[in-house]
Amino acid sequence: MGNEEKMAKMEVKTSLLDNMIGVGDMVLLEPLNEDSFINNLKKRFDHSEVYTYIGSVVISINPYRSLPIYTPEKVEEYRNRNFYELSPHIFALSDEAYRSLRDQDKDQCILITGESGAGKTEASKLVMSYVAAVCGKGAEVNQVKEQLLQSNPVLEAFGNAKTVRNDNSSRFGKYMDIEFDFKGDPLGGVISNYLLEKSRVVKQPRGERNFHIFYQILSGASEDFLCKLKLERDFSRYNYLGLDSAKVNGVDDAANFRTVRNAMQIVGFMDHETQSVFEVVAAVLKLGNIEFKPESRVNGLDESKIKDKNELKEICELTGIDQSVLERAFSFRTVEAKQEKVSTTLNVAQAYYARDALAKNLYSRLFSWLVTRINESIKAQTKVRKKVMGVLDIYGFEIFEDNSFEQFIINYCNEKLQQIFIELTLKEEQEEYIREGIEWTHIEYFNNAIICDLIENNQTGILAMLDEECLRPGTVTDDTFLEKLNQVCATHQHFESRMSKCSRFLNDTSLPHSCFRIQHYAGKVMYQVEGFVDKNNDLLYRDLSQAMWKANHSLIKALFPEGNPAKINLKRPPTAGSQFKASVATLMKNLQTKNPNYIRCIKPNDKKAAHVFNDALVCHQIRYLGLLENVRVRRAGYAFRQAYEPCLERYKMLCKQTWPHWRGPARAGVEVLFNELEIPEEEFSFGRSKIFIRNPRTLFKLEDLRKQRLEDLATLIEKIYRGWKCRTHFLLMKKSQIVIASWYRRYAQQKKYQKIKSSAIIVQSYIRGWKARKLLRELKHQKRCNEAATVIAAYWHGTQARRELKRLKEEARRKHAVAVIWAYWLGLKVRREYRKFFRANAGRKIYEFTLQRLMQKYFLEMKNKMPSLSPIDKNWPARPYLFLDSTHKELKRIFHLWRCKKYRDQFTDQQKLIYEEKLEASELFKDKKALYPASVGQPFQGAYLEISKNPKYKKLKDAVDEKIIIAEVVNKINRANGKATSRIFLLTKNNVLLADQKSGNIKSEVPLGDVTKVSMSSQNDGFFAVHLKEGSGAAGKGDFLLSSDHLIEMATKLYRTTLSQTKQKLNIEISDEFLVQFRQDKVCVKFIQGSQKNGNIPTCKRKNNRLLEVAVP
Ligand SMILES: Nc1ncnc2c1ncn2[C@@H]1O[C@H](COP(=O)(O)OP(=O)(O)OP(=O)(O)O)[C@@H](O)[C@H]1O
Ligand SMILES: [Mg+2]
Repeated sequence: MGNEEKMAKMEVKTSLLDNMIGVGDMVLLEPLNEDSFINNLKKRFDHSEVYTYIGSVVISINPYRSLPIYTPEKVEEYRNRNFYELSPHIFALSDEAYRSLRDQDKDQCILITGESGAGKTEASKLVMSYVAAVCGKGAEVNQVKEQLLQSNPVLEAFGNAKTVRNDNSSRFGKYMDIEFDFKGDPLGGVISNYLLEKSRVVKQPRGERNFHIFYQILSGASEDFLCKLKLERDFSRYNYLGLDSAKVNGVDDAANFRTVRNAMQIVGFMDHETQSVFEVVAAVLKLGNIEFKPESRVNGLDESKIKDKNELKEICELTGIDQSVLERAFSFRTVEAKQEKVSTTLNVAQAYYARDALAKNLYSRLFSWLVTRINESIKAQTKVRKKVMGVLDIYGFEIFEDNSFEQFIINYCNEKLQQIFIELTLKEEQEEYIREGIEWTHIEYFNNAIICDLIENNQTGILAMLDEECLRPGTVTDDTFLEKLNQVCATHQHFESRMSKCSRFLNDTSLPHSCFRIQHYAGKVMYQVEGFVDKNNDLLYRDLSQAMWKANHSLIKALFPEGNPAKINLKRPPTAGSQFKASVATLMKNLQTKNPNYIRCIKPNDKKAAHVFNDALVCHQIRYLGLLENVRVRRAGYAFRQAYEPCLERYKMLCKQTWPHWRGPARAGVEVLFNELEIPEEEFSFGRSKIFIRNPRTLFKLEDLRKQRLEDLATLIEKIYRGWKCRTHFLLMKKSQIVIASWYRRYAQQKKYQKIKSSAIIVQSYIRGWKARKLLRELKHQKRCNEAATVIAAYWHGTQARRELKRLKEEARRKHAVAVIWAYWLGLKVRREYRKFFRANAGRKIYEFTLQRLMQKYFLEMKNKMPSLSPIDKNWPARPYLFLDSTHKELKRIFHLWRCKKYRDQFTDQQKLIYEEKLEASELFKDKKALYPASVGQPFQGAYLEISKNPKYKKLKDAVDEKIIIAEVVNKINRANGKATSRIFLLTKNNVLLADQKSGNIKSEVPLGDVTKVSMSSQNDGFFAVHLKEGSGAAGKGDFLLSSDHLIEMATKLYRTTLSQTKQKLNIEISDEFLVQFRQDKVCVKFIQGSQKNGNIPTCKRKNNRLLEVAVP
């Protein structure tokens, strides 16, 4: 729905009185009688209006079909609206309750009553979902809401069942407190449950089913899960499942099973908990399949035995109970009295009783555990003060063919609720009149307190009788209980029994002997007395509870705390009846502290069918619910009431004085209004805060007037609105025009001003320029004048100065000339005077003195200019005077000699020897051999080869015992081809030796005396020939032609050693061509200038037999 549409709808529907079908509030029904009441309901029902008010009570008729009136849009529509503002709806009641809880801090309770199938549970869910939709938002709040809402499917699965009246009948009572904080956000909740109809677990009436969960598991669980629970999918396998109505139309058990599991997860059940819960459910289902057979014993008594132990075994595996323990518990019963223990065997009937008792107990305890567990989850987490809204959905009033203890209890509960309804509505009504100061006359109605008393009276009540009977020693049966009732209650108006002392019913054949009948507020119900004592006792043999406690299954163990042998309590537990009575009493007390809101559910037909309205059935319900009385009570005083403010607000347009605004108090306004409309005085009454209208007609008249007036007003409003709209539009245009004009003017003026300003600046700048130029011109003129004067003055001063200078110069010249002439004259005179003194020896003395001074000066200068002491330093200061030329040279020579001497004096003997050798070499080779200069810098080492140290030459060393002067590797030139071979060259004091370089074997040994000559070239090569004395021993092979890098040293040493040994000078021939004797032949060695092809190494080539050519680069 679009927003506009929604708005339109809201505007139209501003009262429950608008577009009404029948009347929305029964209080306004005219005339008021049973027929009109039913017809009104029917009319509304036929138009799908299932809700109708009686004042603030909501009547809800079960439509048995889904209506589109619970959508989120509807929620929004009813949200924050006054109760009577929109057509009757359960949401209006929910909203009213929630808002007075939130805004007025009043705890609320919503009491939903009606018979089974009337729609209580649905109504309670609608209330909860509405409240959830309108209360606070946010992740945390949403989780709380979700948990509260999801508790419903879980409890319904375990606590609801299909009955003949209702496919989803609640078989337990439920009261749920929803807790809110001061803002109205939900905090959590508490659920209380009342007496589950557990007999349904083991037996269901014809056409009914066991609790939904059994069917849901079997249909919805996966194969795997069923296998785990040791169950089979087939319903017919289980004795506890009534077969004739195992499937319910329109109910998908499998889908519901998934919903339940999901809900359990949301509510907060852990996986293992869910698993345990289903294990217990499976165990209950399987218990029904245990069967017993009789077995005679020696003492003649029958003993029961389990027929087929397989099922028992599986149950024990599922629940972790020792099989023998459970088996024993089904066969024996131990009675403990004081210190004694007596064990008796069970017969087959007793065994079945024990089995069923266990199944019922297991299931009902599991159900209570579920409620406790859900409470744990939905418990409010904070300890702040809470506001509470209680929603009561309890099983409805029931009349079956066979009514037993359960129906008795259920109907008792409904009696109590009716009681509280009567008390609270009447009390509230009465209190309102008193509060408002209005006169009120009492209305007769049926008060069911008397029926409540029949049931719950502490001395003579039926429940008290039953308890007494159960606790009485001796044989107690249901019949003895009925007898007792017959005695005690015989005179009670609402108790009927064939055998009672009162003979009224002696002939009433409709009342069997084993029954009693109670006239409930909702009709007569006949109860079968059979089973009352047992069900009230609710006994479970101790052996069974102990067996359960021993189970290795934490949930089952927790369900049977009394089975713990350490906590044996011999006291009887309270009976089911007294327990229920106590919890109902607590509930009533609780409800009385809260503000009640009623939803009275009505069932339109018995067939669960839509669109069918059974007048008789509805009539019956209206009667017993006392709805007509309710209307009458409501109308006895005044049919309609409303606070002054909303009343004035609604009808103020009907009077000129109150329209459109009333300045005074609201009450005075309403008075003025009613006077103006001339409403008869007996038709209304003024309360303290409300106006009370006696007759609905008055209200309708007011409504009609209002409708008429509203139409006029609408036209008026439209007119005014149009005028206002045009005017505001015009004013806006006008205002805009002024704004635009003012902006434009401002803009134009700004432009004009800027233009004037810039013109003024231009004019100003021209004038300033002109003025400045004029001034500049004047200044320039003045400056030039000043400069001209200065120049003229300067010229004038210059001329004068030059004239003066000329004059002074002239004067000075003249003075100088005089002085010179004078000096000449004086000089002439002095020279003439002193010439006779000088003439003898003054000239010679001056000369000597001058010479002496010059010499002195020369030597002093020389002292400072001395060159370094290095003998090779060539520097020598320049000669200062020509006449000292020879002295200067001599001095240089002496200084050189002196510094050479100084240099020599530093030498050691070793060095001296070396220098002697070097000197020798210089004398022999300087300027003769080109190799010489390179040798000057080389120190003469002699023993280049360290023969003594190299083990290779040990033999050679041993052969030579003299001191070795030269040991060096030389190249021996082969005369055949000119190629060189390495040889060790040794020079000792007496001999020259050549030895093989590799082996060290001596090749030749020549005494120094046999060496006649050494030849070499003048060039830069190391070739030399050692010539031997002809005819000597060594000369057989001829002369040696050798080459060495140390030629100069070798030749020098050879020369010196020969000289010292033979006292003869060795002939050293330096020539570029010499002859060498090889054996008999003489070969000429010729040195030529060679190319630099092979680097700097000289190459030797044999040219022919007689010529070896050495190319020196
Ligand atoms: N407002 C409603 N709209 C549509 N269907 C409804 C409505 N109220 C009830 N019903 C139908 O009626 C059936 C019975 O309603 P519900 O279970 O609420 O009855 P009840 O009063 O709680 O009965 P019991 O006392 O047996 O629990 C529901 O299952 C549903 O099909
Ligand atoms: Mg219900």
